[in-house]
Amino acid sequence: MLKNNNSYQFNIDKFYKNYLKGPRIFNNRDALESSYIPDDLPHRDSQIKSIAEKTACALLGDTPPSFLCYGMTGTGKTATIRYVSQKLAQQNSEIKPWWIYINCNIVSTPYRILAHIYNTISRKEKIPPTGLPKDIIFKRLLGLLDSKIGNSICFLVLDEIDILVGKKGGNEILYDLTRLNENLDNCKSSIIGISNKLKFRENLDPRILSSLGEEHIVFPSYDASELRDILIKRAKIAYQENILKEEVIPLCAALAAKNHGDARKALQLLRKAGELAERGQNIIVTAKHVEKAQEELENDHIKEYIKGMPLQAQLILASIYLISRFSPEHIIISGDIYDVHSEIRGLIPGIRELTKRRISDYINELSLAGIISAEVKSMGHYGRTKIIKLDVAMELIGNVILEINKFQGIMNYKPAFLQADKVKLKNNIFKKLI
Ligand SMILES: Nc1ncnc2c1ncn2[C@@H]1O[C@H](COP(=O)(O)OP(=O)(O)OP(=O)(O)O)[C@@H](O)[C@H]1O
Ligand SMILES: [Mg+2]
Repeated sequence: MLKNNNSYQFNIDKFYKNYLKGPRIFNNRDALESSYIPDDLPHRDSQIKSIAEKTACALLGDTPPSFLCYGMTGTGKTATIRYVSQKLAQQNSEIKPWWIYINCNIVSTPYRILAHIYNTISRKEKIPPTGLPKDIIFKRLLGLLDSKIGNSICFLVLDEIDILVGKKGGNEILYDLTRLNENLDNCKSSIIGISNKLKFRENLDPRILSSLGEEHIVFPSYDASELRDILIKRAKIAYQENILKEEVIPLCAALAAKNHGDARKALQLLRKAGELAERGQNIIVTAKHVEKAQEELENDHIKEYIKGMPLQAQLILASIYLISRFSPEHIIISGDIYDVHSEIRGLIPGIRELTKRRISDYINELSLAGIISAEVKSMGHYGRTKIIKLDVAMELIGNVILEINKFQGIMNYKPAFLQADKVKLKNNIFKKLI
């Protein structure tokens, strides 16, 4: 439908009608969700075996050892523990172990962890989100474990355990949890810690380390051929038959293998490629869709990274963006960024001036993150300076900056040194008289 300002209005009814009539690409899209637990986990046999061996005695009511699982992100740690816990629950034994799963990134304080364990077991009587002293909750938790779980085993899975250890009171609560068995009469507990920070053990209290066992289970990164096997199995469930061109899975696997063999990334690529094909009403998913998916995922990642940066770092990036936008040919040096930062920070209430040193630190951080490049150049008698360039599409940076509320007023600010009628003297901007 043509609107009076000559632009087309989106016809949502027609869109849905066409969508329903359009080609079906997915069979079970949910199978590509991160929460989906597959029926089998290729290339994780040895980890499944180790965990099964450690946890089997729970079926007889004996106390399994506590242990840690390590590996880079996307190596199947969470999926494997969830898989084993399901299998254990399906066994035909008199004793049914309990599993309490805690993601320490979400349930993030020692108090909330105790409350979460209590509330999950109790279901009825709840511990309030704040307020009770720790020793009271602890006493109530011990009573509940003994009365509700009885002579069974309670597995406490602490996923992303490194986040807990880094928090105030984290080591203490972990110590208390590893010693639960000393204070329980009937029930027994076992801790399973999961982490993708390989070095976090160095921050652990040695008493906790000894309770968590010397042994730990390592999840190595997948190589491209292992990722291919994982994707082939998942694609069979997720996609209709003969929808994926044969190059699609090897390409997703190769791209994710470059990214330290991250299965999550491989699955995200496979899913996004299908969604792009679907959006374009294509009946086949091709390498082109995978390439586009890779580009979109990378952009999402960069956007998230920028949104999570400290405000001053965002302001430095905004300064570089504004110079590049108003004068694409201009060669940006650190001094320019210092000037523009000090101009635009004055337009936002409550933002401090930064020293040249701090600005230089932020420039290094942005460069390490791959958002800009900063090349040190010798200027002869004038010493050395950095030549700075944006390494990410301007449009992308502009879009993220627009989404930062505080920056609304600076988006169209033209730096003083690029305004023909302005001159800067001793950090003050004056209007030129001639
Ligand atoms: N061997 C495998 N077979 C099938 N799917 C797998 C396998 N390994 C991982 N996956 C899938 O990859 C995704 C990421 O796995 P998972 O969440 O277990 O990674 P993780 O090691 O816990 O990562 P993080 O450290 O980031 O939490 C999930 O969707 C999971 O189902
Ligand atoms: Mg995980």
